Amino acid sequence: MFFSDIFLVVSLMTFLRDFHVSSCDPNCTDKPEFTPTSLVVKYGDPTFASCSLCQHACLDNKTISNVESPVGDSAKNGTTILWTVDRLTEWHMSPICYYSNGNGYQCCSTLNVTVYQPPDRVSISFVNHTGPMFEGHQYTLQCTVQHVAPVENLVVTFYRGQTALGQPQSNNNIEKKPVNESFSLNITPSKEDDGGQFWCEAKLELGPDGPQLPPVVTSENITATVYYKPQLKSSHSNITVAEGNSLQLNCSAVGNPSPMYTWTSDIRSYSSGSVLTIDSVTSEDKGLYTCSVSNRVGTVTVTFNVDVKVSYMGLIIGVIAAVAVLVVISVIIGYLFFYKSNRMGQYNLKDVFRLHTKHSAVPSVE
Ligand SMILES: *[C@@H]1O[C@H](CO)[C@@H](O)[C@H](O)[C@H]1NC(C)=O
Ligand SMILES: *[C@@H]1O[C@H](CO)[C@@H](O)[C@H](O)[C@H]1NC(C)=O
Ligand SMILES: *[C@@H]1O[C@H](CO)[C@@H](O)[C@H](O)[C@H]1NC(C)=O
Ligand SMILES: *[C@@H]1O[C@H](CO)[C@@H](O)[C@H](O)[C@H]1NC(C)=O
Ligand SMILES: *[C@@H]1O[C@H](CO)[C@@H](O)[C@H](O)[C@H]1NC(C)=O
Ligand SMILES: *[C@@H]1O[C@H](CO)[C@@H](O)[C@H](O)[C@H]1NC(C)=O
Ligand SMILES: *[C@@H]1O[C@H](CO)[C@@H](O)[C@H](O)[C@H]1NC(C)=O
Ligand SMILES: *[C@@H]1O[C@H](CO)[C@@H](O)[C@H](O)[C@H]1NC(C)=O
Ligand SMILES: *[C@@H]1O[C@H](CO)[C@@H](O)[C@H](O)[C@H]1NC(C)=O
Repeated sequence: MFFSDIFLVVSLMTFLRDFHVSSCDPNCTDKPEFTPTSLVVKYGDPTFASCSLCQHACLDNKTISNVESPVGDSAKNGTTILWTVDRLTEWHMSPICYYSNGNGYQCCSTLNVTVYQPPDRVSISFVNHTGPMFEGHQYTLQCTVQHVAPVENLVVTFYRGQTALGQPQSNNNIEKKPVNESFSLNITPSKEDDGGQFWCEAKLELGPDGPQLPPVVTSENITATVYYKPQLKSSHSNITVAEGNSLQLNCSAVGNPSPMYTWTSDIRSYSSGSVLTIDSVTSEDKGLYTCSVSNRVGTVTVTFNVDVKVSYMGLIIGVIAAVAVLVVISVIIGYLFFYKSNRMGQYNLKDVFRLHTKHSAVPSVE
């Protein structure tokens, strides 16, 4: 009896030594069952599980049973074994619950235990690059996650502001111990990325058995400076202006670094600045004005075609003035003619004026 028990224990230990997680006898119909069926535990935390050895009367007084595990204590109570751990400090383990009865019937189950460690530190940087970036060129962002386990469950996301840019995958999915892992993402910055905040986030996705809030660690922000060619804000280049009015040619542009403006024209020479102002336009100002906006990334030019319209208001005033002058002239001519044709009569021009000042009715010439 005693010896057969010893034999059983020894054979079981041999069985367990050669044991692979998947190799519990699949033909065994009355398997031990763990509750919960799998565990997700933070490294160093306490945990427990219970194992119900069998559902039917599978045990006799020769049965041996236990939970085999490198850590923890087992306590039997009838057909149940309670396995408890005060501090889980093993990275890779699969507790086995087994029994073997006097008929040589052996049966076992394994408990899946995921031991995790949130990252100590997450940092972001550009690979082999410092200083401003140039629009349209490619750069590599790198997110380094330190001391995280298991890397298989790690999801790294790159962000610009609140926008997710990408989720590169780790190709390391066997290491259960904490590792340092770098993830990279290629970006081709545009004007909109100038001043943008880039950062990355490392999240351990541990499934439904994991903590309700998955562990998340984020990096600091890095602020991108993107150099880009000037871009004009508006594109009105054909301008018609009335003579005498003021004219503003506006070639404001955005660019990084801030652009310089150069105006060229056959008509006059002008100083620099984004807006060219002529206070009072004359017909000589008609013509082409070219504004050239440049920074170290590039140059953009815009040509304004200015057409000067002769002012109709001036023309109308001129016509009215000419008509008034004509009227005055014809009145004078009329009076002169009247005076001349009546020089033989009783009245002379002097009398006519005298009569007018008295507001009397126009005297009859007869
Ligand atoms: C399970 O049973 C089948 C047939 O009954 C047998 O061929 C196989 O070897 C058994 N597997 C184990 C692991 O005992
Ligand atoms: C347990 O073992 C004793 C002998 O040690 C035997 O008499 C008894 O029948 C066994 N009980 C069962 C339930 O097998
Ligand atoms: C064993 O389990 C029974 C019920 O499952 C319970 O009432 C009893 O208190 C347990 N004994 C110990 C020592 O835990
Ligand atoms: C244990 O883990 C393995 C591999 O990850 C999986 O195939 C299996 O279904 C898991 N078992 C349980 C009971 O969760
Ligand atoms: C970064 O630069 C170093 C030295 O110039 C080079 O050895 C390394 O391969 C570069 N790394 C990448 C990712 O381009
Ligand atoms: C990074 O920038 C975002 C805004 O883009 C801000 O909400 C966040 O608090 C910043 N994070 C850190 C660590 O400074
Ligand atoms: C991870 O990086 C930290 C800091 O650089 C270093 O101290 C540690 O040894 C690294 N760990 C591994 C597993 O490479
Ligand atoms: C300016 O006028 C020219 C000729 O009249 C025309 O071909 C061109 O499309 C116009 N440009 C704009 C921006 O309106
Ligand atoms: C020139 O145009 C820009 C953009 O349309 C505008 O913000 C700016 O006020 C304008 N400047 C003048 C002097 O009109």
